[in-house]
Amino acid sequence: MIRVLFICLGNICRSPMAEAVFRDLVEKEKRNDAISVDSAATSSWHIGSPPHKGTLHILKQYNISAKGLVGRQLTKNDFEQFDYLIGMDASNIENIYEITGKPDHPKIIRLLDLTAHKKDVPDPYYTGNFQETYDLVLEGCSALLNKIKSEHHLMD
Ligand code: 4NP
Repeated sequence: MIRVLFICLGNICRSPMAEAVFRDLVEKEKRNDAISVDSAATSSWHIGSPPHKGTLHILKQYNISAKGLVGRQLTKNDFEQFDYLIGMDASNIENIYEITGKPDHPKIIRLLDLTAHKKDVPDPYYTGNFQETYDLVLEGCSALLNKIKSEHHLMD
């Protein structure tokens, strides 16, 4: 199994959105037997919480399931358990380096570095713009799925 973990600050806006969007892409390509998906926070603020209303609303709008999305915190052990640790912004990446003790490890990646944007995913908790975040998350997730398929020789 190839294991993917999406990570943000609170695990209520961006990373659960990415978890749901990526799982939807994986299921549509019938790769759920090969790829598993989870998400986590660098903070402890929203452990056990459901996603933000804005994230739930936009997922519903695109008919993407929000089943099983619940806040949890990243642990040092997640580094061993997952093959791809995908942060949403540069500050997440710094925090992931600190929590895992694996600075600059290649399996720790900022999502939009896999796209031409090479920038942070804006945090809709502050911007209020869940649409902008969704569009970028979808683009990043598509790029990530292509990377995984190519690295693991999963043919179309
Ligand atoms: P997220 O957004 O990291 O995309 O889940 C945030 C969620 C909660 C808070 C900050 C950002 N907060 O301050 O509680």
